[in-house]
Amino acid sequence: MSDPGSKVSWAVGKKKVLCVGLCVMDYVTVVKKFPKETVELRCAKGFWQRGGNSSNICTVLRNFGVNCEFFGMLSTSNLFRILIEDMQTRGICIDHCPRCDKEPPFASVILSTSPKTQNIIYCRNKTYPYVSLEDFQKIDLNNYGWIHFRCLYANVTLSMMREVEKFNEQNPKGERIIISMDFDRALEEMWPLVDYCDYVFFSKQLADQHGWLTPKDACAIMDEKMRMRWGLNLKRPYIIFMWRKEGVACVDPHGNYTLVPAYTIKPSKMVDPLGAGDTLTASFIYARYIRERDVSISLDFGNRMASHKCTKYGYDHIA
Ligand code: FRU
Repeated sequence: MSDPGSKVSWAVGKKKVLCVGLCVMDYVTVVKKFPKETVELRCAKGFWQRGGNSSNICTVLRNFGVNCEFFGMLSTSNLFRILIEDMQTRGICIDHCPRCDKEPPFASVILSTSPKTQNIIYCRNKTYPYVSLEDFQKIDLNNYGWIHFRCLYANVTLSMMREVEKFNEQNPKGERIIISMDFDRALEEMWPLVDYCDYVFFSKQLADQHGWLTPKDACAIMDEKMRMRWGLNLKRPYIIFMWRKEGVACVDPHGNYTLVPAYTIKPSKMVDPLGAGDTLTASFIYARYIRERDVSISLDFGNRMASHKCTKYGYDHIA
């Protein structure tokens, strides 16, 4: 397989990738053993980094040299200044992000070495606003070739997707913006959004919540739901299940199932799984959109990069 990850600037001439979602501060604590109740413990390592799914996807896309933009609420708090500077230094465009003076969201992440676990405690003040349709309408959609939505509020995301659809309808076929979404909330809320997507990414967490035991079962259930919704209309999206160590499963618009196996790494090499799914999504977008590879090669590349991501802390060893 040829490698879509080589450093040549394939992104030249491609329209921007826009990632809609949240930017948060991740406080990462690495401990040898997961703490028991009421103990004081020294960590093996501790650091902070910019996080949040769409913000992480931008980090990885930028590392591949992709012209990308983050669109989400930014806070004017002192703490957030470091995150904003980090995005600016890396060349992630934030020109259309609205600002607020509310305390920004953060996540406390505990990575335990034995057993290897990742625990995320996500903290977002209810008053922290989300980007609105009005904010989104200020963006000139002519500049984008792919828009990825992290779906947090289904209604807002739906209204944004409708804007993109309207834009696509007014533009010649080859110029349409591709839409992808990642989602791990109530499925009933999601169905209207799926109608607008080309690619939908689900996490294994969603499958666990529904008791879908294997990637094949999860995909069969999704395929069935898609058929009920779409009939034989091939406008339905690719459904992608990120199934951690087993790899990525996919059902295409014709209902064909594929499992693209993961690249297993030795347990001793597994250092930091935080954001592995975001890395997979970003790498898929890169291979599929920038390098124009077919879906299975793009998923394979996504798997490879997700495994590689886990071998070191952060994202800067990718690309
Ligand atoms: C990893 C991540 C973290 C963030 C958490 C919740 O996938 O994006 O960076 O803290 O998920 O959004």
